[in-house]
Amino acid sequence: MNAGFLQFKPTFGDKKANAEKLSALVSSVKADLLVLPELCLTGYQFRDRKELAEYAKPIPGGESIDAFTGLAKTIGGSIIAGIAELDGDKIYNSAVLVSPEGYRAKYRKIHLFDREKEIFTPGNDGFEIHRVGDANIGMMICFDWIFPESTRTLALMGADVIAHSANLVLPYCQKAMPGRAIENRIYIITSNRTGDENRVEGESLHFTGLSQITGPGGDILAQADETEETVKIVELDIEKTRDKQVTKRNHLFTDRRPEFYKLD
Ligand code: ACM
Repeated sequence: MNAGFLQFKPTFGDKKANAEKLSALVSSVKADLLVLPELCLTGYQFRDRKELAEYAKPIPGGESIDAFTGLAKTIGGSIIAGIAELDGDKIYNSAVLVSPEGYRAKYRKIHLFDREKEIFTPGNDGFEIHRVGDANIGMMICFDWIFPESTRTLALMGADVIAHSANLVLPYCQKAMPGRAIENRIYIITSNRTGDENRVEGESLHFTGLSQITGPGGDILAQADETEETVKIVELDIEKTRDKQVTKRNHLFTDRRPEFYKLD
């Protein structure tokens, strides 16, 4: 399958301008799967929960899902993108999987980062796997990466590719993903944003860019720089993720000794 990331700098609060910029960036792109950043239509740094509530919308339905469906039609494949989801009195930091036919699935961020804990509700639905073409796709969002349990759980569930929508501000993720890919023998597509947001006194945020596609051997198959707005697509060989044998006598999953692990 052909898959990759889009990296860009959204304008806070301007869903229309951000949707237009996304349309322009994908106008000549063809791919089976394209991963977009976390909260890509709204921006990230909401001043408080009340402000976030003005932007969050129920899923499915709504203009944001329509915008993502339009992008999916343009590329002739699926889009995974971050979105603020309203559900009753709760707001989740979610990602949606959208095909050219429309909405398919969502994932609610499980591990909230820093101030997100004050404005979002932590995800309550767990991880899931979705078939896109010949690949099993799992979703995670930004800070989920720092818990190896996220990638491991998705890999044990059968993920060949993890779509990782992000708004990264710490300098570690891009260095860590090769390890996560090697230990699970999977592809990880990290779509990050660029730019700065300074909407909260004393909490200036710089988003690190460097979106990347990490292969099952830990190699970086494509990477953006720290500031560019770009789309990068590569051919993924899904068969490579299905063989978890690292030596004749070592299997990444069946050699595990869970009886000796402390996970809670
Ligand atoms: C993050 O989880 N957006 C850093």
